[in-house]
Amino acid sequence: MTLVPLNELLYKARAGKYAVCAINCCNIENVKCVLEAASEACSPIIIQAAPSEARHSTAQGLAAVVNAIGRDLKVTAAIHLDHGDSFELAVQCIRGGFTSVMFDGSSLSFQDNIEMTRKIVEFSHAAGISVEAELGMIGKATEMDELLAPNYMTDPDKAEEFVNATKVDCLAVAIGNAHGFYHFPPKLDLSRLAAIAQKVQIPLVLHGGTGIPEDQIKDSIKLGISKINFSTVTKKAFIDAVKLYLAENPDTVSLTRLMEAGSVSFKEKVASAIRQCGSIGKL
Ligand code: 13P
Repeated sequence: MTLVPLNELLYKARAGKYAVCAINCCNIENVKCVLEAASEACSPIIIQAAPSEARHSTAQGLAAVVNAIGRDLKVTAAIHLDHGDSFELAVQCIRGGFTSVMFDGSSLSFQDNIEMTRKIVEFSHAAGISVEAELGMIGKATEMDELLAPNYMTDPDKAEEFVNATKVDCLAVAIGNAHGFYHFPPKLDLSRLAAIAQKVQIPLVLHGGTGIPEDQIKDSIKLGISKINFSTVTKKAFIDAVKLYLAENPDTVSLTRLMEAGSVSFKEKVASAIRQCGSIGKL
């Protein structure tokens, strides 16, 4: 396994007209599924952890697991903090061995988001680490009606100002996407995405990959999306498979069989995400 800065993966993806998928992981089972699926598909990959996931295994523990599992696999990967919520957590993840961090200042004022993101960018760049930021509010799919209001979406002019002021490496955009299962099929605002891509030269990130129709994923990649996040779809597959295994084997005391049952389904969804991102064979 080769660990690389996030930016190296994303610029290559943008030039090659594909995206790299970022899969949320909280433990050794998740990491194993993701690295194996990427290696089998000869695809670059991003292992990412949200704050609760990083806390679950500790940043250092998760990075150690990625290095141990990836050691004998042919794969190129980045280890990324997803939706980081503080300077301290970013520092902890960088010191623990992550190769990139996101700072999500979407709940802050525009100016405070700039200030905090810039502080994290300065620290991270000094350590050779890439930074993702969020402008607009991506939020949860259950709050979709509210999120479709224009003031929650990423404004192309503000995106340009934000990127120039922070020197961030990639930007998560709010264009009608949200986290979790959509209650109705999402319709990404692709003209807004095209306008953002015109104003901003850095790679763009699409959160809320679960449930976005494949044609919209393809169109968004054509317009400059280079990283797509998937979490709900893989976790739900794992949980459903574990439930099924327990229903069929109510007296089991084998944790390995239970974890394996969940992992088979988790890995299938990772393979599907890699295929949707068009990154098969792009190692
Ligand atoms: P989903 O859970 O909707 O796939 O979104 C994942 C994500 O964007 C993580 O930041």
